[in-house]
Amino acid sequence: MNYSEVLETAKQNIGTTCKVCPVCNGLACRNTLPGPGSKGPGNGANDNYNAWHKIKLNMDTIVANTEIDTSTSLFGRKLDMPLLTAPVGSIRLQYHPDSDVKDFNEQCMAACETRGLMHFYSTGLEELTHVAAIKSRMAHGNNGVPVINPEADENIVAQMKRCNEGQSPLAISVVVDSAGLPHLKECHGSGGTKSVEQIRMLKEAAGVPLVIKGVMTAKSALKAIEAGADAIIVSNHGGRVLSDTPATAEVLEEIAQAVNGKATIIVDGGIRSGIDMFKAYALGADICMICRPVIISYFGGGQAGLECYFDKLRAELTDTMYMCGARSISQITRDMVRI
Ligand SMILES: Cc1cc2nc3c(=O)[nH]c(=O)nc-3n(C[C@H](O)[C@H](O)[C@H](O)COP(=O)(O)O)c2cc1C
Repeated sequence: MNYSEVLETAKQNIGTTCKVCPVCNGLACRNTLPGPGSKGPGNGANDNYNAWHKIKLNMDTIVANTEIDTSTSLFGRKLDMPLLTAPVGSIRLQYHPDSDVKDFNEQCMAACETRGLMHFYSTGLEELTHVAAIKSRMAHGNNGVPVINPEADENIVAQMKRCNEGQSPLAISVVVDSAGLPHLKECHGSGGTKSVEQIRMLKEAAGVPLVIKGVMTAKSALKAIEAGADAIIVSNHGGRVLSDTPATAEVLEEIAQAVNGKATIIVDGGIRSGIDMFKAYALGADICMICRPVIISYFGGGQAGLECYFDKLRAELTDTMYMCGARSISQITRDMVRI
């Protein structure tokens, strides 16, 4: 199976909201929510996508012709490349009425296991989704990290307890920007934004490293760190929670400078290729996260479709490192890109 075949199969299976465009740039789906689109005028996903392409690569091939090593580590676990698959709450509502996010999580964790990666899964809106994801996590070498919506604190703590029954996950994430999702308020009336004190309490309750997802300013990053976050995800939820935020590629560097090594930095939003991933590491990210093309690859071939996409990303990242003079992830530096 090659990636073109994955896309062709996805077109048959994915439903009507996603057009499986040659580039997943948020244009054809801009006003589909429910669906893969963005909130308000719908420009958020496209802004994210475009911002990576404004960053150019500085080629340097006057270096020793040695092997490329794309590996890194996260929460004590080796990853074959700095890539995570992103949490998705529902694919039935957003893509195809006959699809099931439980299977999406299972196939993601299976594919991540064979490719040495990690899947961040949404604990979802239904208890059964969370229970099934824990089962998948156990079956695939504990390579899933639960991402909990900003519900009422007692609900989050209860979900954290469930995560820690049996083998604890390597980390637990709370997605704070979901406070901007209209349907979330309807499902969990008392949820919403979280104060530093609340996050501090959640960090205590987690019992494992805490990842705060949905940070878009240096100020917000420092508050998350003050509350005890071990990692932050620079994310605007793929443009789905507020229109006219900057793109994640535009804020990444200033956030990385403010964080200054005090927390692991993950970034998502419009990252589509190993070339985009390289740019993100050059601007200070430790790890990248991808969502929509991962969903497309799932519809295009389940585990095999996902593995095909991961292999493509790894080949692109390896080639970019080769051409820009980096032989390991830690050798990717700011001077290798031009804005
Ligand atoms: C259909 C869909 C469902 C999503 N569901 C969730 C979710 O339940 N929890 C969450 O933290 N993020 C969710 N996200 C946001 C993604 O995890 C991720 O932050 C974002 O989509 C990354 O941008 P990209 O799609 O351009 O890669 C969702 C995104 C999409 C497109």
